[in-house]
Amino acid sequence: MDSILVRGNGPLNGQIPIAGAKNACLTLMPATLLSEEPLTLTNAPRLSDIKTMSTLLASLGAEVSSLNDGLVLAMSSHDLNNLTADYDIVRKMRASNLVLGPLLARAGQAVVSLPGGCAIGARPMDLHISALESLGAEIDLRDGYLHAKVAGGRLKGAVHEMRFASVGATENFVMAATLAKGTSVLKNAAREPEIVDLVHCLRKMGAQIDGEGTSEITIQGVDRLNGATHPVVVDRIELGTYMLAPAIAGGTVECLGGRFDLLQAFVDKLHDAGIDVSETENGIRVTRTGGDIHAVDVKTEVFPGFPTDLQAQMMAMLCTAKGVSNLEETIFENRFMHAPELMRMGANIDVHGGTAKVTGVAKLKGAPVMATDLRASVSLILAGLAAEGETKVSRVYHLDRGYEKLVEKLSAVGAHVERVSE
Ligand code: EPZ
Repeated sequence: MDSILVRGNGPLNGQIPIAGAKNACLTLMPATLLSEEPLTLTNAPRLSDIKTMSTLLASLGAEVSSLNDGLVLAMSSHDLNNLTADYDIVRKMRASNLVLGPLLARAGQAVVSLPGGCAIGARPMDLHISALESLGAEIDLRDGYLHAKVAGGRLKGAVHEMRFASVGATENFVMAATLAKGTSVLKNAAREPEIVDLVHCLRKMGAQIDGEGTSEITIQGVDRLNGATHPVVVDRIELGTYMLAPAIAGGTVECLGGRFDLLQAFVDKLHDAGIDVSETENGIRVTRTGGDIHAVDVKTEVFPGFPTDLQAQMMAMLCTAKGVSNLEETIFENRFMHAPELMRMGANIDVHGGTAKVTGVAKLKGAPVMATDLRASVSLILAGLAAEGETKVSRVYHLDRGYEKLVEKLSAVGAHVERVSE
């Protein structure tokens, strides 16, 4: 297993290119199942999760070609020959459940393994199930698999209100409804930019959808969808992660391709913490020259609130803020596993249930630490950028799921970061 060594190396300086969004690409790829014609994605991120989704789609009979060093994904599901998403793939990546809606819409049936829990929570599927059942799907849970079928072969448009604005359930509902007979309305829909990007792509394929980005999305079902070519939207979570690098280590870094509207709540919190953040013609520039980081309180919420996927990274910065910060995690039930690892580096964190109280210390000290999940792993690397001495982050396979070329990107702005094989 690989580890990453990080050594505090003073202020950073330069530019970091931001890749296409993992969480947009993971819902855009299953959309190929909705049409017999080719769907091509550009600006795709080079990540292990994308490879996992490619493997899953291929197991269903789709063709997925990764071109131009992985930046282009040329897909075609003209010949679907399997409607089962196996446990051995789904257990590795929950987003595999996003083939459920498209398979029901295209083929009228699907067998998808339950993902099982993961490090950050139980991650049930009830919201996906009730949303798809509202469109006429019959879904039974048997031997760890969801067995879904559509009586009469075609989904029927419906009005459905979700009890919680689930990102994945919104994506499954919207994709399924594009081919349903009649009109569908999803209330309390999730508003994340990745959903907006999915709708932009579906519209290019001929879908009739309105309201993306709001909590009410209306879909007029059509009989078939065409192919399309679509650029994956920039990754707001990778963007926020790298914006924190100069905030923690000092210096000035410009994140190329970033836009405030993708993460305004996060930008506002950086401003409150005393960090200089501005939009440039190329992206977002972040500067910290010397001044203290101010303690701030953070509460994770659905979009457009503060994103749960940036909570661990924000905590890494607040470990050396002046004062006490309270971070409340409202989306997942177990997303503070980075806290004990940060405490090994000298952080002063008190976790009670869904809230972590962080009392700032002058400086962290490098230490051997363990990555536990994707965003926790990168928060440890961020913390190491300003720690005294060397930090060794092990089990960095978690990182490869969501951060392409991390060592190159941070080294290019002056960080002392190195990947070593054990
Ligand atoms: C998406 O997961 C993202 N993944 C997650 O990013 C992100 O943290 C999450 O949205 C919230 O923003 C992808 O897009 C591939 P949810 P998703 O359904 O769709 C509960 C990362 O680090 N819930 O909005 O699975 C669930 O347990 C990953 O890139 C139910 O109770 O998120 C969780 O507590 C991590 N029943 C909350 O809702 C359901 O049927 C949010 O889940 C579905 C979800």
